[in-house]
Amino acid sequence: MLVFGGTGDLALHKLLPALYYLHRDGRLHAQTRILALARQPLERAAYQALAERRCRAQVARADFDAATWQGFAERLDYFAMDIEQSADFSRLARRLEGSPAQQVYYLATAPRLFEAVVEHLAIAGLAGPQSRIVLEKPLGHSLESARAINAAIGKVFDESRVFRIDHYLGKETVQNLMALRFANALFEPLWRAGHIDHVRINVYETLGVENRGAYYDQAGAMRDMVQNHLLQLLCLVAMEAPARFDAEAVRDEKLRVLQALKPIGGLDVRDKTVRGQYAAGKIGGQEVPAYWFEKNVDNDSDTETFVALLAEIDNWRWAGVPFFLCTGKRMARKTSEIVIQFKPVPHRLFNGGEANRLLIRLQPEERISLQLMAKAPGKGMRLEPVELDLNLAQAFQQKRRWDAYERLLLDVIEGDSTLFMRRDEVEAAWAWVDPILQGWHEHYQSPRPYPAGSDGPEQLQALFGRHLRGGS
Ligand code: BG6
Repeated sequence: MLVFGGTGDLALHKLLPALYYLHRDGRLHAQTRILALARQPLERAAYQALAERRCRAQVARADFDAATWQGFAERLDYFAMDIEQSADFSRLARRLEGSPAQQVYYLATAPRLFEAVVEHLAIAGLAGPQSRIVLEKPLGHSLESARAINAAIGKVFDESRVFRIDHYLGKETVQNLMALRFANALFEPLWRAGHIDHVRINVYETLGVENRGAYYDQAGAMRDMVQNHLLQLLCLVAMEAPARFDAEAVRDEKLRVLQALKPIGGLDVRDKTVRGQYAAGKIGGQEVPAYWFEKNVDNDSDTETFVALLAEIDNWRWAGVPFFLCTGKRMARKTSEIVIQFKPVPHRLFNGGEANRLLIRLQPEERISLQLMAKAPGKGMRLEPVELDLNLAQAFQQKRRWDAYERLLLDVIEGDSTLFMRRDEVEAAWAWVDPILQGWHEHYQSPRPYPAGSDGPEQLQALFGRHLRGGS
């Protein structure tokens, strides 16, 4: 496995710890080797020391021990190269001579480098039929750039060898969404416009942009989160049951959802979206600076760190059901959840309403909870919401839940692309996102401020108010 961007955050923070766990749990082939590639001139030992430091910080203390690390470090090597120089790929080819035929190239780099890397791999004769390529999101910054990247990759790797990562699909609870819907007879008959009032998908973080200002300021929450993670969650909630649980059938159904999304563009953005940016505030009692004050961010930046929008799916199942997609950095709480709000009963017998809600929480804990109305003990008929609560970690009594990257890296090695985005899916997602970005550019230049540590811009409530039946 060759990791381009080997000294970057993604490699050190996510990929190597995931590979460490796979090694520790005996899931890597004895011959598997990991070669990290980056520009910095580092000796192998220096890279191993850097990787060890970062892995120690990521891996739970009880799971890290010197002997296991030593075994893992023996698989780990480093190669200094400039991925913009084709001569360096010839050096790389020489370095790889005699190594096993099957290579996985992991492009943990900025997407603007994808096309060049792939071309160079082909020229250097490194893209043989056994090799696979993994691309990190966001794939491009617009439909046009995504198409160009996909076309360049398609010239070298056929689609079955391309793995476009969206790490949300590697999260256990996200996969559980499919199990919940398609393995339980209870929900599916109700899973449609006649019974569901609205759906909310919230992915909130307390983190700011950390040391990714340079990337994030170009991307913003729309490209960083909505185009991929939130739309993928939407697809899994809204798709029809695939005929089989295999890569093509699942991805065909997700694609149909993306193609059925009602376009939002032009002045619609004022009615159907909220765009925000965090101002200074407090997270966990600590003062934190405004977004434009972050490292490598323009101090008059109008990049959004919060997005809320109304997605409407124009098909038989979902016509008229609002889906609210909301995501933001520096929010009051870290939480990722899907809330399915069912319609109220047709005739109210008792005082006290609402509940009828299914909550699927992905983070911080993995929970599925059905919120029902029940009679409060005592005299009279006073109803209160109660929860049927399933904590998935407890239910399976697992000490440690796999990190999304562990699952996904193993799938790449095994060649299973069910949990990866297909080319047409990525392009359909961009086709929906592009007009919103354009609409913002023309009609919604400055994002609404919200204090760090809050629930987002005040305009959010107005968005719900405009598009929910009861305005709640
Ligand atoms: C990444 C985004 O894809 O997902 C980050 O680039 C974001 O900005 C992260 O912080 C959130 O992932 P998770 O797994 O912590 O919810």
